[in-house]
Amino acid sequence: MLLELIDGHRVVFFGGKGGVGKTTLASATAATLARRGRRVLLVSTDPAHNLGHLWDTRIGDRVTDLDAGLAAVEIDPAATTAAHLARVEGTMHEMMPRHLHAEASRHLRLAAGSPGTHEAAILERIARIVDVSVAEYDHVIVDTAPSGHTARLMALPEMMAAWTDGLLGRRAKAEKLAEAADALGPASRRDRDLLGARGATGTSTDPVHRRNDRLREILEERRRLFGRFRDTLTDPGTCSFVIVLTAERMPVLETVELHAELTGTGVAVAACVVNRRSPRNQGEFLAARAALEDGFVRLLGTRLPDLPVIELPLLPGEAASRAALTALGEQL
Ligand SMILES: Nc1ncnc2c1ncn2[C@@H]1O[C@H](COP(=O)(O)OP(=O)(O)O)[C@@H](O)[C@H]1O
Ligand SMILES: [Mg+2]
Repeated sequence: MLLELIDGHRVVFFGGKGGVGKTTLASATAATLARRGRRVLLVSTDPAHNLGHLWDTRIGDRVTDLDAGLAAVEIDPAATTAAHLARVEGTMHEMMPRHLHAEASRHLRLAAGSPGTHEAAILERIARIVDVSVAEYDHVIVDTAPSGHTARLMALPEMMAAWTDGLLGRRAKAEKLAEAADALGPASRRDRDLLGARGATGTSTDPVHRRNDRLREILEERRRLFGRFRDTLTDPGTCSFVIVLTAERMPVLETVELHAELTGTGVAVAACVVNRRSPRNQGEFLAARAALEDGFVRLLGTRLPDLPVIELPLLPGEAASRAALTALGEQL
């Protein structure tokens, strides 16, 4: 049923608490779609990568073939943040006179430790992967990290786009002022330069103007990237989110919360998967667990009556082999 629900979706996110089965189910989904002839890219954003472990292959931060039609990449958060900051540093240095470079770099080193920087870096990486992969793959399946920030991550493209718009808007204003300054004649050229914008006639070789043009290009490229990503995330025919949980009180309540946050940012939730359901026919103890779980599945149904729910059984062993993934995939 899950596979039908996400059938035409180019980008599918799996999210939920740690340990509920996100990596297992993202892998089982990807493997099953690939077996059905789709080209699938599996992306892990979890710093504690276990995709490689699950597939018994070293994957790492480059696209690696796992099977016919199936490739995977494990985003390295530390390397991604470092590369992101190096790009930002490059941009800042282009913006600033040389004597301020050391100071700018010092600030960036401080920013490197902040969680917002980390999220922005991962998000930009996902956006870039999705951007180049949608043409090459039928599905990009993203196994997200078990953080409470997933929903905020989904809202970030809009924030980044708005932020970039603000900067571009300020630049446009500066250019209008510069045009006005130009019209007043050469005496005001110094003012125009102070505004840091190019004049109406400007095919200038002035380094300030070149720097500004370069900066505008960088901002516009990022603006377009986040705009496209935002469009992808909020198109229910293209992208959806699958929430994975176990049939316990806290995961159910957190699922309700995550669902509200996601739909609030315009991201469609295709389904939720209640994983590791206890068997009813394996003794009293497990039957009692199963009855308890029934109550929590009912609670989920009461809170989110329109959301499709897929239930998967607790397997006797770890779901950590290709055979186990195939078996799980067939039940999805
Ligand atoms: N249906 C299941 N039955 C038994 N074990 C499962 C099942 N689904 C997942 N597991 C096991 O649970 C553990 C956590 O799963 P994992 O997919 O890594 O969770 P997450 O990515 O959400 O942290 C793994 O050891 C996995 O093999
Ligand atoms: Mg995982």
